Amino acid sequence: MVVPHLLSTSDLSVEDINNLLDDAATVLTPDGLQPKHSTELSGKRLVLAFFEPSTRTRLSFETAADRLGASSIFFQTTGSSVEKGETMRETIHTIQAMGFDAIVIRHATNGIHGEIASYTSMSVINAGEGSAQHPTQALLDASTIRERLGTIDGKRVAIVGDLRHSRVARSTSDVLTRLGADVAFCAPDALAPQDPQFADMQRFANIEDVLPWADAVYLLRVQHERLPSDTIIDFDAYRRFYAFRMEHAQKFPHVLIMHPGPVGANVEIDEDVLNLQQCLIHRQVTHGVAVRMAVLRKLLRN
Ligand code: NCD
Repeated sequence: MVVPHLLSTSDLSVEDINNLLDDAATVLTPDGLQPKHSTELSGKRLVLAFFEPSTRTRLSFETAADRLGASSIFFQTTGSSVEKGETMRETIHTIQAMGFDAIVIRHATNGIHGEIASYTSMSVINAGEGSAQHPTQALLDASTIRERLGTIDGKRVAIVGDLRHSRVARSTSDVLTRLGADVAFCAPDALAPQDPQFADMQRFANIEDVLPWADAVYLLRVQHERLPSDTIIDFDAYRRFYAFRMEHAQKFPHVLIMHPGPVGANVEIDEDVLNLQQCLIHRQVTHGVAVRMAVLRKLLRN
Protein backbone atom coordinates (compact mmCIF):
# COMPACT_ATOMS: atom_id res chain seq x y z
CA MET A 1 0.00 0.00 0.00
CA VAL A 2 1.27 3.47 -0.86
CA VAL A 3 1.11 5.68 2.21
CA PRO A 4 -0.39 9.09 1.41
CA HIS A 5 1.58 12.16 2.46
CA LEU A 6 0.99 15.89 2.31
CA LEU A 7 4.43 17.35 1.69
CA SER A 8 3.73 20.28 -0.58
CA THR A 9 0.88 22.17 -2.20
CA SER A 10 2.17 20.69 -5.46
CA ASP A 11 1.02 17.25 -4.22
CA LEU A 12 -2.54 18.56 -4.66
CA SER A 13 -4.38 19.06 -7.95
CA VAL A 14 -6.90 21.88 -8.27
CA GLU A 15 -9.59 19.21 -7.95
CA ASP A 16 -8.00 17.89 -4.72
CA ILE A 17 -7.86 21.44 -3.33
CA ASN A 18 -11.50 22.13 -4.19
CA ASN A 19 -12.56 18.82 -2.65
CA LEU A 20 -10.67 19.62 0.56
CA LEU A 21 -12.22 23.11 0.73
CA ASP A 22 -15.70 21.66 0.15
CA ASP A 23 -15.11 19.11 2.88
CA ALA A 24 -13.80 21.81 5.26
CA ALA A 25 -16.88 23.96 4.58
CA THR A 26 -19.16 21.24 5.98
CA VAL A 27 -17.82 21.71 9.51
CA LEU A 28 -17.82 25.51 9.52
CA THR A 29 -20.63 27.68 10.87
CA PRO A 30 -20.83 31.47 10.33
CA ASP A 31 -19.10 32.10 13.65
CA GLY A 32 -17.26 28.90 14.48
CA LEU A 33 -17.33 25.16 13.99
CA GLN A 34 -20.17 22.63 14.05
CA PRO A 35 -20.53 21.33 17.59
CA LYS A 36 -20.73 17.74 16.35
CA HIS A 37 -17.71 15.50 16.75
CA SER A 38 -17.31 12.22 14.89
CA THR A 39 -15.59 8.91 15.46
CA GLU A 40 -14.60 8.61 11.84
CA LEU A 41 -10.90 8.25 12.56
CA SER A 42 -11.23 6.39 15.80
CA GLY A 43 -8.21 4.14 16.41
CA LYS A 44 -5.94 6.34 14.23
CA ARG A 45 -2.88 7.69 16.01
CA LEU A 46 -1.08 10.91 15.18
CA VAL A 47 2.20 12.16 16.56
CA LEU A 48 3.03 15.86 16.38
CA ALA A 49 6.74 16.66 16.16
CA PHE A 50 7.42 20.40 16.13
CA PHE A 51 11.07 21.39 15.89
CA GLU A 52 10.04 25.08 15.64
CA PRO A 53 7.58 27.05 17.80
CA SER A 54 3.87 26.88 17.00
CA THR A 55 0.55 27.91 18.49
CA ARG A 56 -2.09 27.80 15.74
CA THR A 57 -0.81 24.92 13.64
CA ARG A 58 -0.16 22.62 16.57
CA LEU A 59 -3.44 23.33 18.38
CA SER A 60 -5.51 23.10 15.24
CA PHE A 61 -4.06 19.72 14.26
CA GLU A 62 -4.74 18.51 17.81
CA THR A 63 -8.27 19.92 17.67
CA ALA A 64 -8.89 18.43 14.22
CA ALA A 65 -7.73 14.98 15.38
CA ASP A 66 -9.87 15.23 18.51
CA ARG A 67 -12.98 16.19 16.52
CA LEU A 68 -12.53 13.12 14.31
CA GLY A 69 -11.94 10.69 17.15
CA ALA A 70 -8.23 10.17 16.39
CA SER A 71 -5.62 10.38 19.11
CA SER A 72 -2.75 12.86 18.94
CA ILE A 73 0.37 12.83 21.03
CA PHE A 74 2.75 15.78 21.17
CA PHE A 75 6.41 14.88 20.92
CA GLN A 76 8.37 17.41 22.94
CA THR A 77 11.43 17.83 20.74
CA THR A 78 13.29 20.01 23.23
CA GLY A 79 14.50 17.80 26.02
CA SER A 80 14.29 14.71 23.76
CA SER A 81 17.07 12.41 22.60
CA VAL A 82 17.51 14.74 19.60
CA GLU A 83 19.50 16.91 22.02
CA LYS A 84 21.75 13.93 22.75
CA GLY A 85 22.63 13.76 19.07
CA GLU A 86 20.14 11.17 17.85
CA THR A 87 19.72 11.39 14.07
CA MET A 88 16.40 12.34 12.51
CA ARG A 89 16.19 8.95 10.82
CA GLU A 90 16.58 7.14 14.14
CA THR A 91 14.10 9.45 15.88
CA ILE A 92 11.54 8.80 13.15
CA HIS A 93 12.06 5.04 13.24
CA THR A 94 11.68 5.13 17.03
CA ILE A 95 8.39 7.02 16.75
CA GLN A 96 7.21 4.68 14.00
CA ALA A 97 7.94 1.63 16.17
CA MET A 98 5.25 2.87 18.57
CA GLY A 99 2.57 2.33 15.94
CA PHE A 100 1.64 5.83 14.81
CA ASP A 101 -0.28 6.19 11.55
CA ALA A 102 0.84 9.73 10.77
CA ILE A 103 3.46 12.24 11.78
CA VAL A 104 2.67 15.96 11.64
CA ILE A 105 6.01 17.64 11.47
CA ARG A 106 7.44 21.17 11.49
CA HIS A 107 11.14 21.66 10.90
CA ALA A 108 13.45 24.50 9.83
CA THR A 109 15.27 22.49 7.15
CA ASN A 110 14.00 22.71 3.58
CA GLY A 111 13.61 19.25 2.05
CA ILE A 112 13.58 17.27 5.29
CA HIS A 113 9.89 16.31 5.06
CA GLY A 114 10.40 14.63 1.68
CA GLU A 115 13.44 12.82 3.01
CA ILE A 116 11.47 11.50 5.99
CA ALA A 117 8.64 10.37 3.72
CA SER A 118 11.17 8.29 1.74
CA TYR A 119 12.06 6.10 4.73
CA THR A 120 8.99 5.96 6.98
CA SER A 121 5.78 3.98 6.68
CA MET A 122 3.83 6.72 8.52
CA SER A 123 1.92 9.38 6.59
CA VAL A 124 4.01 12.55 6.68
CA ILE A 125 2.02 15.77 7.01
CA ASN A 126 3.99 18.96 6.50
CA ALA A 127 3.19 21.51 9.24
CA GLY A 128 5.88 23.96 8.13
CA GLU A 129 9.16 23.40 6.33
CA GLY A 130 11.84 26.08 6.55
CA SER A 131 11.13 28.80 4.01
CA ALA A 132 9.74 26.26 1.53
CA GLN A 133 6.27 24.93 2.30
CA HIS A 134 3.28 25.11 4.61
CA PRO A 135 0.53 23.36 2.65
CA THR A 136 -2.24 23.37 5.26
CA GLN A 137 -1.76 27.12 5.78
CA ALA A 138 -2.34 27.60 2.04
CA LEU A 139 -5.54 25.55 2.23
CA LEU A 140 -6.89 27.50 5.18
CA ASP A 141 -6.10 30.79 3.48
CA ALA A 142 -7.91 29.71 0.32
CA SER A 143 -10.83 28.43 2.38
CA THR A 144 -11.14 31.75 4.24
CA ILE A 145 -11.05 33.86 1.06
CA ARG A 146 -13.52 31.60 -0.71
CA GLU A 147 -15.96 31.86 2.17
CA ARG A 148 -15.81 35.64 2.38
CA LEU A 149 -15.68 36.49 -1.34
CA GLY A 150 -17.66 33.53 -2.71
CA THR A 151 -14.83 32.60 -5.06
CA ILE A 152 -11.08 32.92 -5.44
CA ASP A 153 -11.11 33.09 -9.22
CA GLY A 154 -10.36 36.63 -10.39
CA LYS A 155 -9.75 38.03 -6.90
CA ARG A 156 -6.70 40.19 -6.25
CA VAL A 157 -4.51 39.26 -3.32
CA ALA A 158 -1.40 41.22 -2.35
CA ILE A 159 1.17 39.54 -0.13
CA VAL A 160 3.03 42.18 1.85
CA GLY A 161 6.19 41.85 3.96
CA ASP A 162 8.93 39.28 4.30
CA LEU A 163 8.21 36.98 1.39
CA ARG A 164 11.84 35.97 0.99
CA HIS A 165 11.94 33.88 4.17
CA SER A 166 8.29 32.85 4.21
CA ARG A 167 7.05 29.32 3.52
CA VAL A 168 3.54 30.74 3.74
CA ALA A 169 4.18 33.12 0.82
CA ARG A 170 5.31 30.17 -1.30
CA SER A 171 2.48 27.75 -0.53
CA THR A 172 -0.35 30.26 -0.33
CA SER A 173 0.57 32.06 -3.56
CA ASP A 174 0.80 28.68 -5.33
CA VAL A 175 -2.67 27.59 -4.24
CA LEU A 176 -4.34 30.97 -4.81
CA THR A 177 -2.79 31.34 -8.26
CA ARG A 178 -3.91 27.88 -9.29
CA LEU A 179 -7.44 28.69 -8.11
CA GLY A 180 -7.46 31.70 -10.42
CA ALA A 181 -6.48 34.59 -8.10
CA ASP A 182 -4.31 37.44 -9.28
CA VAL A 183 -1.50 37.45 -6.70
CA ALA A 184 0.94 40.37 -6.34
CA PHE A 185 3.53 41.25 -3.75
CA CYS A 186 5.02 44.22 -1.97
CA ALA A 187 8.28 44.04 0.01
CA PRO A 188 11.47 45.97 0.64
CA ASP A 189 14.43 44.74 -1.43
CA ALA A 190 16.03 42.90 1.50
CA LEU A 191 12.86 40.83 2.02
CA ALA A 192 11.67 40.46 -1.57
CA PRO A 193 11.54 36.89 -2.91
CA GLN A 194 14.28 35.89 -5.34
CA ASP A 195 13.09 32.49 -6.56
CA PRO A 196 11.54 31.86 -9.98
CA GLN A 197 8.08 31.28 -8.48
CA PHE A 198 7.77 35.06 -8.04
CA ALA A 199 9.64 36.19 -11.15
CA ASP A 200 6.53 37.08 -13.16
CA MET A 201 4.48 38.33 -10.24
CA GLN A 202 3.41 41.96 -10.18
CA ARG A 203 5.28 43.98 -7.55
CA PHE A 204 4.00 47.09 -5.78
CA ALA A 205 6.36 49.64 -4.26
CA ASN A 206 4.51 50.16 -0.98
CA ILE A 207 1.26 49.47 0.84
CA GLU A 208 -0.36 52.75 -0.26
CA ASP A 209 0.03 51.66 -3.88
CA VAL A 210 -1.31 48.19 -3.29
CA LEU A 211 -4.50 49.03 -1.39
CA PRO A 212 -6.50 50.57 -4.28
CA TRP A 213 -5.71 47.40 -6.32
CA ALA A 214 -6.36 44.64 -3.78
CA ASP A 215 -9.42 42.67 -2.66
CA ALA A 216 -7.28 41.26 0.17
CA VAL A 217 -3.90 42.10 1.67
CA TYR A 218 -2.00 39.22 3.21
CA LEU A 219 0.54 40.52 5.71
CA LEU A 220 3.64 38.60 6.75
CA ARG A 221 5.82 38.83 9.83
CA VAL A 222 9.51 39.61 9.42
CA GLN A 223 10.99 36.11 9.97
CA HIS A 224 13.83 37.14 12.27
CA GLU A 225 14.82 33.52 12.83
CA ARG A 226 15.67 33.15 9.14
CA LEU A 227 17.27 36.54 8.43
CA PRO A 228 20.99 36.41 7.60
CA SER A 229 22.86 38.10 10.45
CA ASP A 230 24.02 40.99 8.23
CA THR A 231 20.47 42.03 7.26
CA ILE A 232 19.57 45.42 8.68
CA ILE A 233 15.90 46.36 8.71
CA ASP A 234 14.95 49.95 9.40
CA PHE A 235 11.70 49.36 11.29
CA ASP A 236 10.55 53.00 11.11
CA ALA A 237 10.76 52.86 7.34
CA TYR A 238 9.19 49.41 7.37
CA ARG A 239 6.18 50.70 9.25
CA ARG A 240 5.85 53.73 7.01
CA PHE A 241 5.91 51.80 3.72
CA TYR A 242 4.75 48.26 4.45
CA ALA A 243 2.64 48.16 7.62
CA PHE A 244 -1.15 48.03 7.53
CA ARG A 245 -2.24 50.87 9.78
CA MET A 246 -5.62 51.93 11.15
CA GLU A 247 -5.84 54.81 8.66
CA HIS A 248 -5.62 52.25 5.82
CA ALA A 249 -8.56 50.31 7.20
CA GLN A 250 -10.62 53.50 7.37
CA LYS A 251 -9.72 54.50 3.82
CA PHE A 252 -10.19 51.00 2.33
CA PRO A 253 -12.94 49.32 4.39
CA HIS A 254 -13.68 46.73 1.68
CA VAL A 255 -10.10 45.37 1.61
CA LEU A 256 -9.83 42.14 3.56
CA ILE A 257 -6.92 41.79 5.95
CA MET A 258 -5.20 38.44 6.44
CA HIS A 259 -2.11 37.17 8.24
CA PRO A 260 -0.96 33.62 9.08
CA GLY A 261 -0.02 34.66 12.63
CA PRO A 262 1.79 35.19 14.85
CA VAL A 263 1.25 38.89 14.32
CA GLY A 264 4.00 41.42 14.99
CA ALA A 265 1.55 43.84 16.62
CA ASN A 266 2.34 47.44 15.72
CA VAL A 267 5.11 46.28 13.39
CA GLU A 268 3.46 44.97 10.21
CA ILE A 269 -0.09 45.63 11.47
CA ASP A 270 -1.70 47.97 13.99
CA GLU A 271 -3.06 46.01 16.92
CA ASP A 272 -6.47 47.75 16.74
CA VAL A 273 -6.93 46.48 13.20
CA LEU A 274 -7.19 42.93 14.54
CA ASN A 275 -10.72 43.52 15.83
CA LEU A 276 -12.19 45.06 12.68
CA GLN A 277 -14.88 43.35 10.58
CA GLN A 278 -12.66 43.40 7.51
CA CYS A 279 -9.90 41.54 9.38
CA LEU A 280 -10.08 37.77 8.83
CA ILE A 281 -7.12 36.74 10.98
CA HIS A 282 -9.15 34.95 13.65
CA ARG A 283 -11.49 33.45 11.07
CA GLN A 284 -8.39 32.02 9.36
CA VAL A 285 -7.62 30.18 12.59
CA THR A 286 -11.09 28.57 12.60
CA HIS A 287 -10.64 27.55 8.97
CA GLY A 288 -7.34 26.03 10.07
CA VAL A 289 -9.20 23.45 12.16
CA ALA A 290 -11.68 22.75 9.34
CA VAL A 291 -9.09 22.22 6.60
CA ARG A 292 -6.88 20.09 8.86
CA MET A 293 -9.90 17.89 9.56
CA ALA A 294 -10.37 17.57 5.79
CA VAL A 295 -6.68 16.71 5.30
CA LEU A 296 -6.69 14.09 8.08
CA ARG A 297 -9.84 12.55 6.62
CA LYS A 298 -8.34 12.41 3.14
CA LEU A 299 -5.06 10.86 4.31
CA LEU A 300 -6.18 8.55 7.08
CA ARG A 301 -9.64 7.32 6.15
CA ASN A 302 -9.17 3.81 4.78
C1 NCD B 1 3.60 30.78 10.20
C2 NCD B 1 4.63 29.69 10.17
O1 NCD B 1 5.09 29.20 11.19
O2 NCD B 1 4.93 29.33 9.06
N1 NCD B 1 2.63 30.68 11.13
C3 NCD B 1 1.67 29.70 11.09
O3 NCD B 1 1.93 28.54 10.89
N2 NCD B 1 0.41 30.10 11.29
C4 NCD B 1 4.13 32.11 9.88
C5 NCD B 1 5.16 32.77 10.75
O4 NCD B 1 5.77 32.17 11.61
O5 NCD B 1 5.37 33.97 10.53
